[in-house]
Amino acid sequence: MNRIFSGVQPTGNLHLGNYLGAIRNWVALQHQYECLFCMVDMHAITVWQEPAQLKANTREVAAGLIAAGIDPKKNILFNQSQVPGHAELAWVFNCVARLGWLNRMTQFKEKAGKHRENASVGLYAYPNLMAADIMLYKATHVPVGEDQKQHLELTRDIAQKFNNDFKTEFFPLVEPLIFGVASRVMSLRDGTKKMSKSDPSDYSRINMTDDADAIAQKVRKAKTDPDPLPERPDGLETRPEAANLVGIYAALSDQAVEPVLARYAGAQFSAFKNDLVDLAVAKLGPINAEMKRLMADPAQIDAVLRDGAQRARALSEPILAQVYDIVGFLRP
Ligand code: AMP
Ligand code: TRP
Repeated sequence: MNRIFSGVQPTGNLHLGNYLGAIRNWVALQHQYECLFCMVDMHAITVWQEPAQLKANTREVAAGLIAAGIDPKKNILFNQSQVPGHAELAWVFNCVARLGWLNRMTQFKEKAGKHRENASVGLYAYPNLMAADIMLYKATHVPVGEDQKQHLELTRDIAQKFNNDFKTEFFPLVEPLIFGVASRVMSLRDGTKKMSKSDPSDYSRINMTDDADAIAQKVRKAKTDPDPLPERPDGLETRPEAANLVGIYAALSDQAVEPVLARYAGAQFSAFKNDLVDLAVAKLGPINAEMKRLMADPAQIDAVLRDGAQRARALSEPILAQVYDIVGFLRP
């Protein structure tokens, strides 16, 4: 049976990268698969989070997913910390994964930066918790952006080592689902850096909460180069900012890059940006309005998450019980 699990950190604003690289694809997948979508609050605290802000952000991300079209009745939508099995399986995986494997994780190196000695142990062990998120439900497919590919390879390594060590076929080897267009949306200020919640400049990203004016300002200020748009994708190869804006346009209008260039070849950025603003406002405006409506009733969001967590617990408990038995933990 195919089962999908994916996660998003409830830290700060959801942005266009999250939407195009992940959430939009989740919306499409919910009709073909059984899906679990998780606000990974336990991953979030691997770096400091203000407690009140973390709660607010968890509700905001949940509202964003629902507003984007995730149906919380059909799918399981919940926050990680409400299901204790994530932490429990992560501990087992801490004992399966090897230090050498984690040492190779590029996200840790990026996030820990120069002060590695000062990073939390949780930040280092983060990929093991992610593997636990997925394997706790024996999920078979994980839709994510390009940046998470390495973590999914680690998840497969952990599952395989567990299976080998305990001479079982218990865990499936998960497949990443990475969608071509906009699997890596870049910063609007620097086309070589990915669009990220943690970028100090708000002009680097379009947030899902941005209104039409904010979207227009950010697109108009987005970094570009002086040349007109090329005719073909290979003309974008050495132009990261142009490639990013064209990629965003293609993704938002559900087409490949080629037809976008066929239409705008030779155009100046000012004209292209005007159309991009209209498109982004048309696509994100309704989501933005629905998000605001949902956020006005936090009790309703909490009820959705409580229901999702209950259903997630029901799926996870028998799987964790089998893992504990396989490992050799004495059970009552
Ligand atoms: P995060 O915000 O890091 O928890 O990421 C949530 C989801 O959004 C993951 O599937 C990421 O791969 C995806 N994602 C985050 N940033 C980007 C980006 N700049 N471009 C494409 N996908 C992204
Ligand atoms: N690490 C992912 C990110 O930063 C979030 C995440 C946590 C996740 N657990 C997951 C994604 C499980 C997919 C599956 O984007």
